[in-house]
Amino acid sequence: MKYVFPETFLWGTATSAYQVEGNNDKSDMWVEEYSEGSPYKDYSGNAVDHYHLYKQDIELMAKLGLKTYRFSIEWSRIEPEQGVYSEEEINHYRDVIKVCYENNIIPVVTMMHFTSPQWLMKIGGWKNPMTADLFANYCEVVFKELGRDIPYVLTMNEVNLPVMLKELFINMNFMPPVGMDAKSWTAPGWRESVAQKCGTTIDQYFTFHMASDEASLEIVKDAHVKAREVIKKINPTTKVGLSLALPEIQYVEGGEEQAAKVWHDYFGQFKSVIADDDFIGVQNYTREIYGPDGQVPLATGTEVTAMGYEFYPEALAGTIRNVAKELDIPVLVTEHGIATNDDRRRVEFIQRGLKGVHSCIEDGIEILGYLYWSTFDNYEWTFGYGPKFGIIGVNRETQERLVKESGRVLGEISKNNAVLT
Ligand code: NOJ
Repeated sequence: MKYVFPETFLWGTATSAYQVEGNNDKSDMWVEEYSEGSPYKDYSGNAVDHYHLYKQDIELMAKLGLKTYRFSIEWSRIEPEQGVYSEEEINHYRDVIKVCYENNIIPVVTMMHFTSPQWLMKIGGWKNPMTADLFANYCEVVFKELGRDIPYVLTMNEVNLPVMLKELFINMNFMPPVGMDAKSWTAPGWRESVAQKCGTTIDQYFTFHMASDEASLEIVKDAHVKAREVIKKINPTTKVGLSLALPEIQYVEGGEEQAAKVWHDYFGQFKSVIADDDFIGVQNYTREIYGPDGQVPLATGTEVTAMGYEFYPEALAGTIRNVAKELDIPVLVTEHGIATNDDRRRVEFIQRGLKGVHSCIEDGIEILGYLYWSTFDNYEWTFGYGPKFGIIGVNRETQERLVKESGRVLGEISKNNAVLT
């Protein structure tokens, strides 16, 4: 079978600054990692040194046949101190974008992918309503310099993730970050030392991904709306979007209400701010099934990925359909990925996911592209370097890149603009 995609379809992969660049030592996450008692499994260190190796990395993507690259700009590099902007770092990202174009790769830029500058934490982080304006200021500075060459931008990544984690840790009175179990998050003294280093109290110290209360979410939404306004003013042709983490929500008998509530929390409550945008970034990894007593546990023997999620690539199409039922704007798949050491499962995951995307397009849903997470095996936050999401492996001793079969397969799909099975 040959599944042919629209000619303008964006094929590519995605990364985020903190996970690949290395040495983002002005970021809040760096303090978390390097404070005593940290539950992070590894230090991010020099990550995969993409900060220095971006040119060869982008050339490699082009050589594989990929045509789009989603990456993020690290706010704490651009504005290391409040109101102080680094020309050198702006030029760094200017060059990343330039190298993309030299290689016929379209850049999709995320302005904030989970991490915030340390100075922001000192003034209350995402609990401080001023943060919306501060974020928009940073976007303004970047767009005045680079906006002309940014055709697609995501203001923020997975702003609903805190809500998802809250569902997971519903009975806890504080929020562990991505992928962290509550026990290690309470590591003695660690939270206190993070707060102390940031010159704030524990209560004030909220990194972006921990802010799940209503007031913080309002600040996040406000930040998006304000950033969109300044971006559009500077470069009206840039397509602006927001990305959400969206598992496919399914239910078994008696679970309708639960499923509807979860879908509202993950998606519905953000719908109104997204509706004015140019596109929605859909990020999907698996499904969640609800019954009368909450989430239905996985049946014994279910295939799971290295993150413990169910292997279920069809969830991508299911999610796109659920979104399209409620929002009449184009979809860009800004993430779809699997952590596994068995690259054959990754190939299968990509192909099956894409067949679903194709069926959605056939049904008339406008889908702009598919960006696999991730370009490289990289720093999976609290999980460290354990989970392997990449289509390109990295030897972190030598920083050598090792293209996997899935990289070749995705490259061929991109070159042919079609999935052949
Ligand atoms: C979503 C996040 O955007 C990204 O940072 C993370 O690494 C992947 N999911 C995989 O968990």
